[in-house]
Amino acid sequence: MNMLHRVCCSSPLWAKAVERELLPWALAGVDLGTSTLEIGPGYGANLRVLADKTPSLTCVEIDAAMAERLRRKYGERARIISGDGTATGLPDANFSSVVCFTMLHHVPTAPLQDQLFAEAFRVLRPGGVFAGSDGIHSLGFRLVHIGDTYNPVFPDELPDRLRRAGFIDVFVDTKGGEQRWRAVKAA
Ligand SMILES: C[S@@+](CC[C@H](N)C(=O)[O-])C[C@H]1O[C@@H](n2cnc3c(N)ncnc32)[C@H](O)[C@@H]1O
Repeated sequence: MNMLHRVCCSSPLWAKAVERELLPWALAGVDLGTSTLEIGPGYGANLRVLADKTPSLTCVEIDAAMAERLRRKYGERARIISGDGTATGLPDANFSSVVCFTMLHHVPTAPLQDQLFAEAFRVLRPGGVFAGSDGIHSLGFRLVHIGDTYNPVFPDELPDRLRRAGFIDVFVDTKGGEQRWRAVKAA
């Protein structure tokens, strides 16, 4: 992440926006069930809120230093794994829900994003749900990623990409500069 991201994603302002707006919108109508995996928690703005919404929370963060920081701060509330959301190494059919927020555009290629969708599908139990949100391409969104990975997902392509990963009951929706989705692994 570039410096702007580091400052923004670790700020109280971002934590408040996540808690009050983004996460409630992204997870409206989503039943997290008993065991949740979050991919790409970053500084933990969503983790902090999710830990009170699900009985068991596991997080996979690719940035080892960030994962260590999360472990120190939230290690008693969640299991923090230093790893890659496209290949977690976690067992098949282990979670009732997989979520990710504001991170898909940091996955550098479409095939890797598709691999992340396939990985979410693999680790979900039958009947489990994959849900989350991400920004939508715009000039402003592009500019804040100067010097950083920028590979936004197009909302009109997302339903087919999720179906190709195996999901059913796919729902994708946009509001302002954001998209949210939920998709189910058949029971
Ligand atoms: C912009 S931050 C968002 C963090 C957090 N979800 C939030 O909303 O505040 C994106 C995060 O995704 C992580 N990330 C990117 N690719 C990943 C991958 N393949 N697996 C796990 N984490 C990843 C980055 O290291 C970074 O911490």
